[in-house]
Amino acid sequence: MKIILPILSSLLLIGCNDQTTVQSSSTKSPEVVPPSTIVATPPEIVNIPLDPSSLFSKKCASCHGDKAEKQALGKSQVIANLEEIQIKDALKGYQAGTYGKEMKAIMQGQAKSLEPEQIDALAQYIPTL
Ligand code: HEC
Repeated sequence: MKIILPILSSLLLIGCNDQTTVQSSSTKSPEVVPPSTIVATPPEIVNIPLDPSSLFSKKCASCHGDKAEKQALGKSQVIANLEEIQIKDALKGYQAGTYGKEMKAIMQGQAKSLEPEQIDALAQYIPTL
């Protein structure tokens, strides 16, 4: 308990900071946000749809490589070499169950939680790696 309490209270503090940030940025001018609030950004920031760089490194790089340069699990194409439209079609196809080869079940699990905006952003981003 002695160890957990300070962690809990700092989590609460982070929560309070976020709320005051939202309130102050909507009612007052946004430049008042203290730098400490930015550092305390919670991990769910990864899910922001239009940040393909962190999305890719969190969700895709472990199999496809940091530069999308690997054949995932020795099976996929090197997706950095694909066109934007091919990546988009593949990810939407995995979601719909209409695309894939022998290991498609793996990618269906990966693609399931992606929003359409995230697919668009990833499809644009991956060929630039
Ligand atoms: C657990 C490992 C793993 C992760 C994580 C993963 N993939 Fe894949 N990916 C694969 C495998 C294996 C295939 C080949 C699947 C098949 O047989 O159709 C594949 C195929 C693909 C293809 C189609 C390429 C082809 O060969 O037709 C794309 C595009 C793709 N992945 C993008 C992504 C993106 C974007 C992410 C992150 C959101 C991601 N993958 C995360 C393993 C992974």
